[in-house]
Amino acid sequence: LVTAGAQELPKLAVKDKYRIGFSQTESDNPWRLAFSKSMQDEAKRLGWTLVETNAGGSAAKQVADVRSLIAQRVDAIFISPREEKPLAPVVLEAKKAGIPVIIIDRNVDDSIAKAGRDYITFIGSDFVEEGKRAAEWLVKATKQNAKIIELEGSTGSSPANDRKNGFHTYIKKFPGMQVIAAQTGNFTRDEGRKVMETLLQAHPEVTAVFAHNDEMAIGAITALEAAGRKPGKDVIIVSIDGQKEALNLILQGKLGATVECNPRFGVKAFQTLKDFAAGKKIPLKVINPDKFYDKNNAKKYLADAY
Ligand code: AHR
Repeated sequence: LVTAGAQELPKLAVKDKYRIGFSQTESDNPWRLAFSKSMQDEAKRLGWTLVETNAGGSAAKQVADVRSLIAQRVDAIFISPREEKPLAPVVLEAKKAGIPVIIIDRNVDDSIAKAGRDYITFIGSDFVEEGKRAAEWLVKATKQNAKIIELEGSTGSSPANDRKNGFHTYIKKFPGMQVIAAQTGNFTRDEGRKVMETLLQAHPEVTAVFAHNDEMAIGAITALEAAGRKPGKDVIIVSIDGQKEALNLILQGKLGATVECNPRFGVKAFQTLKDFAAGKKIPLKVINPDKFYDKNNAKKYLADAY
């Protein structure tokens, strides 16, 4: 196990209660809300103060948010970076100010800021694996033959880069699996719908959709139905996240499957910080195990979904 070099990182004194900064990317979808709630719930349970900021989908605002948390002299900062490059330098600024950082959910550019040297660790899903699992399911569901529209996440974000990478690396082995168009829907339902409407006109031959998250898949389903297509029948759809509405759409036969991306980071994030303060060795990456939902298990997990 490679561990964080604690001597290079700012220290965190052992205390009963901390004042922690939490820089959230945006709050416009159920996944983000479930993520924030799990952080708030755990802070409350521990009796710690959580100073949460919301960048509203802007990397520039998020840089300013982190700077403000540094200026407020919080004890440590959790950052969920919107994009890999713009958020990396501010991690170095926190380190310089003597404030330890944990990166959660999305990552920062590794050539600028490194786990174990500049921040404690990264806690999140393996996005490459998520893309691969979506591809494996789609290859089987379409019998290795599909004309695919790919709805990408926010440009420059690690889930958009890595999910694309995992998906394309896998389907490359199957000549019948062709991505006929790919465009960002910015991880939002409305943009997913609009992009799908446009791409559908240019590519009526589409038989499958890979959406980098559920919200865009839901938008695509609306666009397909408005155009008289039958999602789940003439267009097979796979996405990522595992939100309640997606599980319901699986049960209705409109969405084929969704790879879980677990947003409930609270317990793990706060425990990792406590371990760091106690001088325990922290792995450079803490990967969340993710489930997979399709028609065989969607009902079972519905009640627990967000
Ligand atoms: O970074 C994880 C992604 O961000 C989730 O898949 C998406 O729904 C969210 O906005």
